[in-house]
Amino acid sequence: MATRSPAAWISLLLALALALSARAAEEAPAAAAAEGEAVLTLDVDTFDEAVAKHPFIVVEFYAPWCGHCKALAPEYEKAAQSLSKHDPPIVLAKVDANEDKNRPLATKYEVQGFPTLKIFRNQGKNIQEYKGPREAEGIVEYLKKQVGPASKEIKSPEDAASLIDDKKIYIVGVFTEFSGTEFTNFMEVAEKLRSDYDFGHTLHANHLPRGDAAVERPLVRLLKPFDELVVDSKDFDIAALEKFIDASSTPRVVTFDKNPDNHPYLLKFFQSSAPKAMLFVNFSTGPFDSFKSTYAAAAEEFKDKELKFLIGDIEAAQGAFQYFGLKEEQAPLILIQDGDSKKSLSLFLRSTTSLLRWLWLTASTMWCSSLAKMFLSSSMPPGVDTARSWPLSWRRQPPHLKVMRKSWLPRWMPPQMTCPVSSTSRATQPCTL
Ligand SMILES: *[C@@H]1O[C@H](CO)[C@@H](O)[C@H](O)[C@H]1NC(C)=O
Repeated sequence: MATRSPAAWISLLLALALALSARAAEEAPAAAAAEGEAVLTLDVDTFDEAVAKHPFIVVEFYAPWCGHCKALAPEYEKAAQSLSKHDPPIVLAKVDANEDKNRPLATKYEVQGFPTLKIFRNQGKNIQEYKGPREAEGIVEYLKKQVGPASKEIKSPEDAASLIDDKKIYIVGVFTEFSGTEFTNFMEVAEKLRSDYDFGHTLHANHLPRGDAAVERPLVRLLKPFDELVVDSKDFDIAALEKFIDASSTPRVVTFDKNPDNHPYLLKFFQSSAPKAMLFVNFSTGPFDSFKSTYAAAAEEFKDKELKFLIGDIEAAQGAFQYFGLKEEQAPLILIQDGDSKKSLSLFLRSTTSLLRWLWLTASTMWCSSLAKMFLSSSMPPGVDTARSWPLSWRRQPPHLKVMRKSWLPRWMPPQMTCPVSSTSRATQPCTL
C-alpha cells in the first residue's frame, strides 16, 4: 500500500501470525456468498455519515488482493447477519482502502496493513482497534462483549467463575466502594482498553480465583495465565494504571507457535518498539527443552532491561524466516532486532552454551556507535551471520574501547561502557568516546 510507515513491516508479521486461523478459514467452503449482504459497504463519501448514524460500528479496511481479507469476508458477513438482530445494534461495515479515493480514510485512521478492523463508538469520538477473533462465532461473541459495560461487577464466586477465563488476562479492581477517584480512574481505563482486555470490579477480593480476603483495598489485580500469575498495583493514576497493565500483560518469553492463545502476545511483541531477541528452534526435536529453559533463564536475567524475548517454532514462524532472510535449516538460531527496524544480528546455535554469553555480548554491545554505523549501512543485509564473525571472536582477541552512552541509546545501557572491537576491517569503525 502507499503508506510508508516505519511500522509497516509489523503488519506483515502480524499477518503471518494470523496466517493460521486465516488458512483454516480459507479451507472452509464460502457458504455465506449466496446470501444477502449484511455488511455495509462504505467509501469516502458515505463514511462520516455512517459513523455519525451508528453509535457502535465496526469498519474493516481491506484490499481486494489481500488473502487474509478474502478469508475473513465470509466470516465477517456471517457475523454481520447474526449481529443485525442484536439490541443495541452492532453494525459491521467495510471500506476498500486500496481504492484511490478511499486512501485518505486509511491514512486518517492509521491503517497499516490489511485487513484492519476498527471499532467506532459515539460518533467516532472513541476509536479502538478490533483485536478479537477472525471467525464468525468469535467475532459475534467479542463484539457483544464490546457493547456491554466495560467492566462487570463480581458479586459472588459464581460471577468470578463465569467472567474470568483462566487462559486469558483479567483485570479486576478491588474497592471499598464504587465511587471516588480510584474507581472513576479504573473505569476510565477499562473503557479505554476494553478491546484489549477483560475488566471486572468487586468489593470482595475473596471471590476471586487465587484470591485472599486480606488484600488492602483499593487495589488493581491482574490475573494472567503465565509467569507470576497474579500481579497487583495500588497506583490509580490513569497513566500509571495503563503502564502497569501494559508491562504486566506480556509473558517474559513470548511463544510463536500454532496455539491461538499465544497470538495476542505475539502481536504485542511485534508491535513493541523495544529491542527484541528471537530464538527459533524446531519444537518437535530433543534439544528444544534445553534451549527453552536456558532461554527462560536468560529472559529472567534481562527482566529489568529493555529487551523482549520470543521463542519461535520454525514450523510456525516460516514467514518470519523469510522476512529476515534466514533459512529453516539454519535453526536453531537466535536473532536480535534493533527496535522496529529491519536491522538485526543473528547467530546460528550449535548448543545452548553460547546462547547466554552471546545475548550479553550482543545486547550490550550492539548499540555501540561503531556497530550501529555498520548496522545502519546498507552494505549489511538483514539477518547476516555477523555474530559469528564478531562478538564471539572478540573473546579471542579483545581490543577494547570505552564508550559513553549516547542519548539515543536504550535506557538500560550503562552510562559508560567498554566496547570490544574485533581487528577485522569490518569492525574498525571507532566507537565514540
Ligand atoms: C522438526 O523436527 C521434526 C522431528 O525431527 C521433523 O520431522 C520436522 O521435519 C522438523 N521440521 C522442520 C521444519 O525442519
